[in-house]
Amino acid sequence: MQLGLYTSSCMSTWKPNSWKSKPSKHLPEYKDQDKLNNVLKELSNFPPLVFAGESRSLKEHLAKVSQGKAFLLQGGDCAESFAEFHPNNIRDFFKLFLQMSLVLTVSSGLPIVKLGRIAGQFSKPRSAPTETKDGVELPSYLGDNINSMAFDAKGREPDPERLLKAYSQSASTLNLLRAFSQGGFADLNKVHLWNMSFVKDKAKEKYNEIEQKVSNALDFMSACGITSENNRRLRTVNLFTSHEALLLPVEEAMTRVDSTTGEYHDTSAHFLWIGDRTRQLDGGHVEFCKGIKNPLGIKCGPTSDPEEIVKLTEVLNPDNEAGRITLIARFGHDKVQKFLPKLIQAIKKAGRNVIWSCDPMHGNTVKASTGFKTRPFENVISETKSFFEVHQSEGTFAGGLHIEMTGQDVTECIGGAQNITDKDLSDRYHTHCDPRLNASQALELAFLISGEIKKNSNFSKTSIKEAS
Ligand code: PEP
Ligand code: CO
Repeated sequence: MQLGLYTSSCMSTWKPNSWKSKPSKHLPEYKDQDKLNNVLKELSNFPPLVFAGESRSLKEHLAKVSQGKAFLLQGGDCAESFAEFHPNNIRDFFKLFLQMSLVLTVSSGLPIVKLGRIAGQFSKPRSAPTETKDGVELPSYLGDNINSMAFDAKGREPDPERLLKAYSQSASTLNLLRAFSQGGFADLNKVHLWNMSFVKDKAKEKYNEIEQKVSNALDFMSACGITSENNRRLRTVNLFTSHEALLLPVEEAMTRVDSTTGEYHDTSAHFLWIGDRTRQLDGGHVEFCKGIKNPLGIKCGPTSDPEEIVKLTEVLNPDNEAGRITLIARFGHDKVQKFLPKLIQAIKKAGRNVIWSCDPMHGNTVKASTGFKTRPFENVISETKSFFEVHQSEGTFAGGLHIEMTGQDVTECIGGAQNITDKDLSDRYHTHCDPRLNASQALELAFLISGEIKKNSNFSKTSIKEAS
């Protein structure tokens, strides 16, 4: 097999295990190294979850986003869990994602690139290595593929066997998503079936209006002879998968050489991102991501130095390829106006090709009076709006939204049309990590930003034209 298609000289020596020569934060310590190595060996012989050609296709879609010709919607659980693994949950996530995409397409006029935080989003970086309850201190929960939420010494011990269960869960989740995407569920003639019975507020009314518009458009197309029977694009969607490239031993085990090109691809997902806590230039996570050809995300927050982010885009994308890098901004509603312009200006000055995506979740986490971790929906909206405003004034395209959401009727984020309060949080608080928008809140967010995308996409297209 031919290797060495990489442009810079250090790439020719890159190997999936090169990250081991660099310091890596947030990796668990396994007591039984032999057991871990056996599991990793097994994983490295398992079939890839995704194929290199699919990741390349996603990169092409993302290149369109970078030109203002499409919009990226990325979302799903903060952390997938073994307990919430159920076909109905996967179905409801899929329904909600389709609904949000439809709302965004109808109002922005742009195709939506659909990227789930799903089928592999298990491992979590935590703010503290240990957790103390009633005077007992134990290692923190690190995600279901590493240890258990159960607060006892055995549960909190990292167990390599969990990696096999996570692989199996990811494979069957992806299998169902592929079936839904291609098997008729995503047919535009079935938009009414994507509704969720518990979404009863304003978002539901507005969605019904969109349904009517789509139905009228389909009638018109059918009269012109274009139907979902004779046009695949009306009955199928592309849904891609993503997760944080955090647990490097597993990412290494899932990295394979693509036999058609000789390039390395991480086959655990189409898209991988580097978290806000592991994006050190000289760290293991960046080293790993340098060598894989998948499209990549980099989380940026108030602690990121714009020059360092520029450098990261150079190191991770030496050819400045469109669609390779998505910068996922998660500043917080009260900081985005202050920090984002500087980052945009540095990236523009350096001429770096990036997609700008807004994560209005991770900078807005607060502790409710009842002790639950929550996010006020109004702050999520406010950060998203500010993100669009900043791009509008910088003349750049706000190309994506990255959210933590679930198709379930949970009570994890306060506010929204259901007016969830601190006191309601305990009703249905199911997340294994950060609080997620429920179906009603996520749909409301889609409606709220769809107008902003339209304004921004017109602006961006004009400025791209002027520049050329
Ligand atoms: C996350 O996306 O769940 C996460 C941990 O984000 P960040 O790295 O931005 O804190
Ligand atoms: Co999170």
